[in-house]
Amino acid sequence: MDNFLKDVLKGLQSSPKYLQSKYFYDKKGDELFQKIMASGEYYLTNCEMEIFTTQIAEIADAIVDGQRQLDVIEFGAGDATKSSHLLKELLKRKAIGAYFPIDISNHIIELLNRALPPMLPGLNIHGLNGEYFSMLSKANEISNNRKLVLFLGANIGNFKFNEMPQFCNRLHNELSAGDLVLIGFDLKKHPRKIRNAYDDAQGFTREFNLNLLTRINRELNADFDIEQFDHYASYDPDNGACKSYLVSLAKQDVCIGKNHLIYFEKDETIFMEISQKYSIEEINKTALESGFTPVAHFFDGNKYFTDVVWRVEK
Ligand code: AVJ
Repeated sequence: MDNFLKDVLKGLQSSPKYLQSKYFYDKKGDELFQKIMASGEYYLTNCEMEIFTTQIAEIADAIVDGQRQLDVIEFGAGDATKSSHLLKELLKRKAIGAYFPIDISNHIIELLNRALPPMLPGLNIHGLNGEYFSMLSKANEISNNRKLVLFLGANIGNFKFNEMPQFCNRLHNELSAGDLVLIGFDLKKHPRKIRNAYDDAQGFTREFNLNLLTRINRELNADFDIEQFDHYASYDPDNGACKSYLVSLAKQDVCIGKNHLIYFEKDETIFMEISQKYSIEEINKTALESGFTPVAHFFDGNKYFTDVVWRVEK
């Protein structure tokens, strides 16, 4: 049985039901995420873009050490719009060895391998298609330069509050003393501002969530009636958890493949995604507890978002 089917069945046979947000990103999901990023409500992308365009010299100052060249490894590189600003600055300073974008989408890696060299002449690019940590060890085999791991876009928010430190510990274990990480976190702010970002008026986020049901229909031969599900986003300012759900509008059965029947109660929910928000104190505490020293943090003008630089201590 393939992993997608296994994960979908596991989630829908659990109580409460859930699906994994990593499966959002098929072709249609990529398009819808682009629309979300361009929407007025989704502030995250613009905030991080502001940081990378207006403070790139300061970011480079915090990571370049003058002596040794740096390899840049990017987890979930996407189209590398933000990171290309940094790559350009590092090239200018002759401080970069190679760029290893890592993505689970082979399509994205092929695109980057083709599109980046003409944009960034002189850049040594080596795209890696696969899981973050197995590709990180591959990059470690290829080169023993000092490393900088980029994990941008608040992708770290997709870990639950208590899972995020485990990810940071693992990252620390796979790196060497003096290596750096640069991570983008979305910060706690007015709860309505956050909730609106995950419930935009044009309905792109709603479509983005429903699209996973469409993907399951197509790829796993299921028969979800998309009309019979609604999207619901919540934000809890006490714990910083922003969560998306789909809600069943009726009592209904859904077939997945030939052999699996899933029953939904009216108003039963499927938990789809967490986008965890943090305070600066929580971020610094995690850095120290997972073996890093916070080196610098950068904010947009509204202090909605932060990119932090941490150094690995061993
Ligand atoms: C790509 C995981 C950072 O959680 O803000 C956007 C995904 N989901 N709108 C986020 C997302 C709904 C996004 N990340």
